[in-house]
Amino acid sequence: MLNVDISNLWDGLTLQDLLAKEKDVFAAHKLLKDGKGAGNDFLGWLNLPVFEDTDEMRRIKNAARRIRENSEVFVVVGIGGSYLGPRAAIELIQGQNHNLTGKGPQIFFAGNNLSTRAWQELCALLEDKDFSINIISKSGTTTEPAIATRALKWMLERKYGAEKAKERIFVTTDPVKGALRQMATEEGYETFVIPPDVGGRFSVLSAVGLLPMAVAGLDITELMIGAAQARRDMDIFSFENPAWLYAAARNLLYANGKKIELLCCYEPSFKYMAGWWQQLFGESEGKDGKALFPATAEFTADLHSLGQLIQQGERNLFETVVRFAPTRKKTQIEMDWKNLDGLNYLEGKTLDFVEEQAFLGTLAAHTDGGVPVVLVQADEICDRTLGELFFFFELSCGISAYMLGVNPFNQPGVEFYKRNMFHLLGKPGY
Ligand code: PA5
Repeated sequence: MLNVDISNLWDGLTLQDLLAKEKDVFAAHKLLKDGKGAGNDFLGWLNLPVFEDTDEMRRIKNAARRIRENSEVFVVVGIGGSYLGPRAAIELIQGQNHNLTGKGPQIFFAGNNLSTRAWQELCALLEDKDFSINIISKSGTTTEPAIATRALKWMLERKYGAEKAKERIFVTTDPVKGALRQMATEEGYETFVIPPDVGGRFSVLSAVGLLPMAVAGLDITELMIGAAQARRDMDIFSFENPAWLYAAARNLLYANGKKIELLCCYEPSFKYMAGWWQQLFGESEGKDGKALFPATAEFTADLHSLGQLIQQGERNLFETVVRFAPTRKKTQIEMDWKNLDGLNYLEGKTLDFVEEQAFLGTLAAHTDGGVPVVLVQADEICDRTLGELFFFFELSCGISAYMLGVNPFNQPGVEFYKRNMFHLLGKPGY
């Protein structure tokens, strides 16, 4: 089971300070479990993890098989919670260069920006390629994916004809409401459901994440088993629950002047997981003038950019470091007779060994420098571990936000920029 290590937390804080949070964590977890807290009509994510395939999972697997057979490229259209989860999962498991491996369709993401350059680049990549699309939007009205959808739909219709194009358009949206649901029904597209009681940033374990993951070759049954196991393991009301430790530690640090949480990982393929985490915590907690600022860093790369600030800048941050168990397959550093690079002292050592020393050295340096470190230790990267990690962060977020006293499941602030943009664009009603 995933483990949270708080032994490097102390920066003038004691274990007693953390244990003193027990009543608050208990109350927050209970609010979540009993469905009595703010936003309690959005708790459906708690029940998404399952041990066995559901009908929806079987339909997802069937659609994924067809897409893998007839498409060289799969375009996933969505933004925010309808985008980051699938991208995070695919990159963590298949690696950042998954599109170059030739295993299954290339996966591109669209509808998450308004950049003309990005759009034109995608169009060029799609030229002469057989492709399918998955439009993901719960509301069905979000501008960025709506614009991409309109254009991709036309491209498919021009290429395959209106009828054949329908077999290449997959829609993931609300079961009843919204423009996208209406479009899918009228046009006869295959649809998958975002349950009404699951908000975007908590939707990765629904069809939102599962269809793109299955197309990318992830084992979604394994992923769900990992999440379901985590749900069972973390259904305990004590500090043996890693979600309790994490939620308590970050709230304690926040109350003691640490206003920034830096999520760090030594795996480059974790980049979008960090992005998913950033949205999860940022959008869930950042309201009512409160919240830790969720920042991210990739080590060791960012030790050569942010490292200086972390070590000696304003003492207003702490780190949460996600560690995975080492891979079974090892890479060794070779002997070089000339030793011109002076690296022979590492001859025969594994890359893992060097990475571990970098981690330990950094941990000691940063804690010495007054940066508390929370360690999240997970098993080797695989579908199951990923499912566990997704559920762990979601549960921790729900508990942590209730501890902070905010509604984790709304995002009223996001509307402000939209209102201005719609007014400027001349959208009717704005
Ligand atoms: O977490 C959220 O609710 C948001 O990030 C949404 O996912 C995002 O705004 C996209 O919304 P929709 O799925 O309605 O297009």
